[in-house]
Amino acid sequence: MGEGGFAAVFRVRDQTLGQDVAVKVLDLGLTPSPGLAERFVREARTSARLEHPHIVPIYKVGGYKNEVLYIVMRCLDGPSLRQLLDKQHRLSLRDAARIARQVADALGHAHLHGIVHRDVKPDNILLDSAGHVLVTDFGIAKAAQEATVSQLTTEGMVVGTPHYMSPEQATGEDVDARSDIYSLGVVLYQMLAGVPPFDGDSAQSILMKQATATPVPIRDHRTEIPPLLAGVVDRALAKDPGERFQTAEELSRALVDALPTAAQDSVRMRSRVLARALQGLVGLGVVGALVLVGLAVLSRAPRISARAPIPDSLAQPLRRQGALTPGDAALYVFSPRGADDTTLLLVARRSVAVVTPHRVRAYHRDSVQVRYGADLRGGLAFRLVLALPRARRDTVFRHLSFRDVYELATRLGKLIGEN
Ligand SMILES: Nc1ncnc2c1ncn2[C@@H]1O[C@H](COP(=O)(O)OP(=O)(O)O)[C@@H](O)[C@H]1O
Ligand SMILES: [Mg+2]
Repeated sequence: MGEGGFAAVFRVRDQTLGQDVAVKVLDLGLTPSPGLAERFVREARTSARLEHPHIVPIYKVGGYKNEVLYIVMRCLDGPSLRQLLDKQHRLSLRDAARIARQVADALGHAHLHGIVHRDVKPDNILLDSAGHVLVTDFGIAKAAQEATVSQLTTEGMVVGTPHYMSPEQATGEDVDARSDIYSLGVVLYQMLAGVPPFDGDSAQSILMKQATATPVPIRDHRTEIPPLLAGVVDRALAKDPGERFQTAEELSRALVDALPTAAQDSVRMRSRVLARALQGLVGLGVVGALVLVGLAVLSRAPRISARAPIPDSLAQPLRRQGALTPGDAALYVFSPRGADDTTLLLVARRSVAVVTPHRVRAYHRDSVQVRYGADLRGGLAFRLVLALPRARRDTVFRHLSFRDVYELATRLGKLIGEN
C-alpha cells in the first residue's frame, strides 16, 4: 500500500476473519543489537494499547530474528491526508478543521497515556471509507530513529519529514506532547493554505526555518479564513512550546470554538473506487462526470459477475474448456450479457483468460494490465482492453455499459494492475 523511510505497508487478507488487514514490515537490516529490536517491539506494544476512535487499532506486533519486525493493524480504505492533499491541494475550511480536531483528539488520548507521537504528518493521518480520521504510527518514530542512527556512522542524521518537525525536534532537543501540537499546526496550515509554512531546497534549510523563521500569515494565503481560526494556527505554531496550546485537548476545543462544524467527524471525499473509474474514463476526455452518473443509473447491470469462491457450475465448464488450468483457482469471472454473451473474462490466481466459444486466450496474470476505452459510434459504449507485453493488446469487450465498467473497476482493479 505504500512505503516510508524504513518500512513498507502491505494489504493482507486474513483468511480466518475474511477481511483485509494492513501489515507494516520494518526491515532493520543489520541491526547491531538485539536489544534495539526488543525496544522497538516494546514501543509498538505500548502504542498498541491505545484504544480510541481516532487511532488506527493495532492487532498484533511481532518480529523475526530481530531483523524483520511487523505490526498488524486495521486496514483503512480511504485515502491518507497526503493523498487527499496531493489531489486537492488545499481543503475546505470545514474539512481542514474537522481533520485537525480529530487528530487533536487522538493525540490528546495518547498524551494522557504518556505517548508522544513524534511523527505527525499527512502520511500518518488516514481516512476510512466513511470519511472518519484515524492517526497511525504512534511513538514508532523514536525507535526508528534510534535504529537508524545506530546504523549510521554520521552523527546528527534526522529521521522524519523536516516539514512537520517542531523547532525543538529540529534542533535535537528533548520533545514532549507540545511538539506534536506544533506538527499538527503545520498540517493544519498546509490543509488551509495548500503549502506548508516552511519549505526549502534541503532538509537543513527547512529545519533552520522551523527553528527561527516566521511563517507567512495564514490569512495572506486565504483571506476567508476567520481570524479565530488563524489565531489557532498561530498559537499551535509558536516557536516556544510554552506559548503553544499546552494540551491537545485545548487545541481541540479552540478549533471547535473557531469553527463549530469542526466538532463533526465526517470529511467529504470522493470514493476512491469511483474516482478511479472516473479517472480511467474522464482521462480519455470523453464524457463529464454528470453524464457518467446518469449512465450509472440508466445502464443495465452486468449479468455474470462472480468473485471467489466461484460457483462450481461456472468453474467446471471453464476447467473443461482449459481456461482454468489444473491446480489454479478462479478469483473472478465477468461477462456483461451473461448467457447471451459470447465472451467471458476470467481472472485466476496465475492467469487471466478471455474465453470465447472458439478459443481461450490465456495470459500470465502478472504480465497483463487493464485499460478502458470509449466509443461514441451508435451510442456511448466502453471497451475493456488488456495491455500485454511488447505493446500487444487484446480487446476483450467492445460494448460495455457504465455499470459494467464501474463493476470492473471495483473488482478488477484489485486483481490486475491498472494503467
Ligand atoms: N493501516 C493502514 N491502512 C491503509 N494504508 C496504510 C496503513 N498504514 C499505512 N498505510 C499507507 O502506507 C504508506 C506507508 O506507510 P509508512 O511506512 O508508515 O510510511 P509513511 O507514513 O512515512 O508514508 C502510508 O503513507 C499510507 O498511505
Ligand atoms: Mg506512517
